[in-house]
Formats: sequence, structure tokens, C-alpha cells
Amino acid sequence: MSAITKEQVLEAFRFRAATRAYDPTKKISEEDFAYILECGRLSPSSVGSEPWKFVVIQNMALRKKLIPVSWGMATHAEDASHLMVILAKKNARYDSDFFRIALEKRGLNSEQMAKVIDIYKKFQTEDIKILENDRALFDWACKQTYIALGNMMTSAALIGIDSCPVEGFDYDAVNQILVENKIFDPTEWGVSVMVTFGYRAKEIRPKSRKEIEEVVQWVREE
Ligand SMILES: Cc1cc2nc3c(=O)[nH]c(=O)nc-3n(C[C@H](O)[C@H](O)[C@H](O)COP(=O)(O)O)c2cc1C
Repeated sequence: MSAITKEQVLEAFRFRAATRAYDPTKKISEEDFAYILECGRLSPSSVGSEPWKFVVIQNMALRKKLIPVSWGMATHAEDASHLMVILAKKNARYDSDFFRIALEKRGLNSEQMAKVIDIYKKFQTEDIKILENDRALFDWACKQTYIALGNMMTSAALIGIDSCPVEGFDYDAVNQILVENKIFDPTEWGVSVMVTFGYRAKEIRPKSRKEIEEVVQWVREE
């Protein structure tokens, strides 16, 4: 792997900023966007579940339907080069076909699979307790999608591409619009979060962050 310096990485983190105004004349190349998607695909997820789908909406008529119910991207959904809706898997239970297929893909035999599924059962029911209701299980899948979201925004920043994560929307309405347009099956998937990508139209004000001492707590040897 070719080395990238810490300063280059920090520069990308400082450059990345929630972009609310894109230059509508600048589009991300296919190659660059494929790189961003690959960084999403390679992201880690709890128990390797990969409970996500990255839906890239380049259809302007559909984008325009989303804007009235998405206050958080009202100023940038239309001008963004790419608009992505990240879906999270519903019902990602340890005993679902979803997990069975993933484990088969990893080449596990039936004995190994039974063992692993037993571990996942304990994890989901007793440890992290996400089988108490459908919402908890769906939110667990959503948490995984945010890792891919972060990675895609950072990888974009590393090559000078801007982005804005978007939670500012009416979830019921966005789900309904996408389902009506046959984008996904609502028994299998739900909207987790959205993100726009493009090139900033103007300079963005400097970052405001808490001090390092406020966010880090060290527990050292006595
Ligand atoms: C999960 C998430 C959802 C967000 N939703 C929106 C949104 O709907 N609209 C928006 O303009 N900004 C949104 N933001 C951007 C935040 O306001 C922004 O990241 C934060 O103020 C820090 O600024 P910076 O990203 O420019 O460093 C969101 C950020 C995150 C992480």
C-alpha cells in the first residue's frame, strides 16, 4: 500500500464540511463515484452483516418529489452531482435467510453455520438486546449504515469531493415516495439516511469543534 501522510488525512478531515450549496455545473466522474461506492461496500459492519443498500438517485423527477419532504437538503438536492439514499435491512435476525445467505457466501458448512448462528442468537437476544421490537432491530442495521456513510464522505473528501449527510426529512414520506416508485420492497428495506455529493459552490465557514480534552477521557495505569 502506498503511504499517505497523517497531514494529508487531516487535511481531508478539515476540508470535509457539510455542503449546502453545490456548483450545479460540476459533476463527479463515473470513476470517482465508483471509488466512493467501493469505499462504502468495503466498510465494516457488526457480525459482517452488510445490512445496507446504496440507492443513487440521478433521476431528477424523483429527486424533485423528495425535496418538499426533505428540509435538510432543500438547498442542495437539486444541484448535487449525486444523491444517495442509504437503505437499511429490516428483520436482520440471526435466524433469517439474510444471515444464512451471508454465511453461505463466506463458505461455512452447516455445522460451522449452526455454531455461528448460536453466537449471533445470544448476541442479538441477550447482549445487545435488539430483538425486543422491530424498531430496535432496524436501528441496529441503521447504525451499520452510518459507518459506510462516514467512510464514503471521508473517501470523497480525500479526493476533493464534497458531501452533506442528511437526516432532515420526513421518514414516512420519503419511504412512501420511494416505495411508490418501486425503488425497494418495504417489507425488506427502510430508509436509514441520505447523503448528497458534489463540488461546493462557495467557501464554507471554518469548523467549530469541542476541544480534544472535552471529548477524550484517558484511563491510564495507576
Ligand atoms: C447523521 C447526520 C445528519 C445530518 N443531517 C443534515 C441535514 O439534514 N441537513 C444538513 O444541512 N446538514 C445535516 N448534517 C450536517 C451537520 O449539521 C454537520 O455535519 C455539523 O454541523 C458539523 O459541521 P461540518 O460537517 O461542516 O463539520 C447532518 C450530519 C450528520 C452526521
